[in-house]
Amino acid sequence: MVTANDFIPAPYTHSIDQGIFQWSAPSNIALVKYWGKKENQIPANPSVSFTLNNCKTITQLAFAKKQNQDPSTFSFDLLFEGKPKEDFKPKIQKFLDRIEIYLPFLKDYHFTIDTQNTFPHSSGIASSASGMAALAVNFMSLEKLLSRNFGTEMTDEYFNKKASFLARLGSGSACRSIKGNVVVWGNHKNISGSSNLFGVEFPNKIHDNFSNYQDTILLVDKGEKQVSSTVGHDLMHGHPFAEKRFAQAHENLDSLIKIFESGNLSEFIKIVESEALTLHAMMMTSLPYFILMKPNTLEIINAIWKFRNETQIPVCFTLDAGANVHVLYPEDVKEEVLTFIKNNLVGYCQNGQYICDEIGFGATKI
Ligand code: PMV
Repeated sequence: MVTANDFIPAPYTHSIDQGIFQWSAPSNIALVKYWGKKENQIPANPSVSFTLNNCKTITQLAFAKKQNQDPSTFSFDLLFEGKPKEDFKPKIQKFLDRIEIYLPFLKDYHFTIDTQNTFPHSSGIASSASGMAALAVNFMSLEKLLSRNFGTEMTDEYFNKKASFLARLGSGSACRSIKGNVVVWGNHKNISGSSNLFGVEFPNKIHDNFSNYQDTILLVDKGEKQVSSTVGHDLMHGHPFAEKRFAQAHENLDSLIKIFESGNLSEFIKIVESEALTLHAMMMTSLPYFILMKPNTLEIINAIWKFRNETQIPVCFTLDAGANVHVLYPEDVKEEVLTFIKNNLVGYCQNGQYICDEIGFGATKI
């Protein structure tokens, strides 16, 4: 079994003075939700997600060996869409603190991190998953150069595993954004290779019904998150239903293994919608308690149920820890569902905004 110590590198074989990388990493949408964690970003239950394709963070990492700067601190500038963004820095600083032991070169360089998202700023779409994933793969590119060996290169498998491992330490769900198209994070007895330390591509058969699966994200409330993930995960400590919920996630993942194989969309819908409502139920039944759905979230859910009943089109919803609704459906009903969204759901979105996305394949080097 892989342990965290396996990601502490051997002494580097190369030195490099400066350079620049650029990577994009996508967001992901969980089907079985991660909600609740233990120390060191270990999830309380396994989760599985679709990697997205269009909602991405693009991050450029420029690095230069420190000259006369303090060797005992991290040195970095952070730009968001080309402009300095001081308020993002503490999160990055914390991330660097957590990953330093696994990337011992971090204090040798000054970094300029220049990052942008393809989705609108403050859309209520979490950028921490794509953002931390994009930064992690950039750092791995540098480590790959530093650890070249005669005739042998770091394998893609190790690169991706460690990138996911690092991303997890930035934001748990970020570890599911390195690869596509279906990623599992967290030990599950029936998913070989699954780990609490990093995300792995779902190893079993996936039916064609899920190829190019669509996710249209309806922006119901673009405001700041009412509850940060950190606070939210913490609410599961001592939560009266926590243990039952964690066990249920294991069972739901078991069911999904069969559903992915058979392509049974009505069973898929049951699990996915139940997971979304359970996530919100956990928040409603914690202390303090929160309602993160808005009236329009419920309007949309009811409209989706009515449409599905009337047409038998296998469209369903899922939710993150917020009011926005992810509308999930197979590619072959795209036209009908988009017409339904335009005619019946856009009115519930803030400024009529929604984002068309679909299942994707993970981080890419630019
Ligand atoms: O990665 P975090 O700590 O922001 O947690 C994300 C949790 C959910 O998005 C609500 C669920 C999930 O599995 O992505």
